[in-house]
Amino acid sequence: MSDLFDLEGRVAVVTGGGRGIGRAIAVELANAGAAVVPSARSTDEIEAVAADIEAAGGDAVAVPADVTDPDAVGDVIDRAAAEFGGVDVVVNNAGFNPDDALGRPEDVETESLDRVLDVNLNGAYEVTHAAADHLHESDGGSVINVASVGGLVGLPRQHPYVASKHGLVGLTKSMSLDWAPEVRVNAVAPGYVSTELTDDLEGNERLRQSIIDRTPLERFAEPEEIAGPVVFLASEASSYVTGSVLAADGGWTAR
Ligand SMILES: NC(=O)c1ccc[n+]([C@@H]2O[C@H](COP(=O)([O-])OP(=O)(O)OC[C@H]3O[C@@H](n4cnc5c(N)ncnc54)[C@H](O)[C@@H]3O)[C@@H](O)[C@H]2O)c1
Repeated sequence: MSDLFDLEGRVAVVTGGGRGIGRAIAVELANAGAAVVPSARSTDEIEAVAADIEAAGGDAVAVPADVTDPDAVGDVIDRAAAEFGGVDVVVNNAGFNPDDALGRPEDVETESLDRVLDVNLNGAYEVTHAAADHLHESDGGSVINVASVGGLVGLPRQHPYVASKHGLVGLTKSMSLDWAPEVRVNAVAPGYVSTELTDDLEGNERLRQSIIDRTPLERFAEPEEIAGPVVFLASEASSYVTGSVLAADGGWTAR
């Protein structure tokens, strides 16, 4: 790998790092040389990820936290700094799209909207906010928010998720201005990726086919295909990139 993508000496916190896209991001950041702190609500999954990274010769420590719990989030950042000497990269990947937040606006309760915003948007803010001092002390601080095509265009019957991801894109752009030139803030906007989040979609043949038909690359992504863009945004290879949203969507938003 070119030195441009080398993350040796960097410390990366990855929320939702126990499975799916977050797991792939944690592993690929470690493969690029970063010490990684995978975090999620479930301890088992993140400990397995940390063990895999260490077995491959990397450095990792799993620290559980719900991103809506400021104390727990503070512990993640403190632990990362104590174990590895700082925090250079924050990947806000934790997110969800629960069944009670799916449907027409008149059928979704306000509480469902609140919960989705709380995790997908406020949670990302909480983690970034907690890491602010370390990111500014770093000589290459980088925040990467995992948004969605739903952060760029509307999608029917999931307005809470779409609102949260549009909010995350807004947060990305605004924070990139406030934190330049010291810290870069970018987002990745995945299209449809094969993970537990999309199990139901992929299990519904009609829906699965309609997504494939709508996607120029004619398939769902694998989680590793979102990790590559994140490694790029974490590294020197993207040193002049801030405030941007990198669509990794198989061409979905090019139509
Ligand atoms: N799968 C897709 O098609 C797709 C497309 C676009 C964007 N995304 C986004 O990518 C991210 C990862 O999605 P995925 O498909 O890997 O989902 P996933 O359900 O497989 O994994 C989500 C991870 O987030 C964690 N998480 C959820 N709520 C949390 C909370 N409150 N606190 C801490 N951790 C929490 C879970 O424990 C899990 O580790 C999400 O932000 C999602 O919105 C996914």
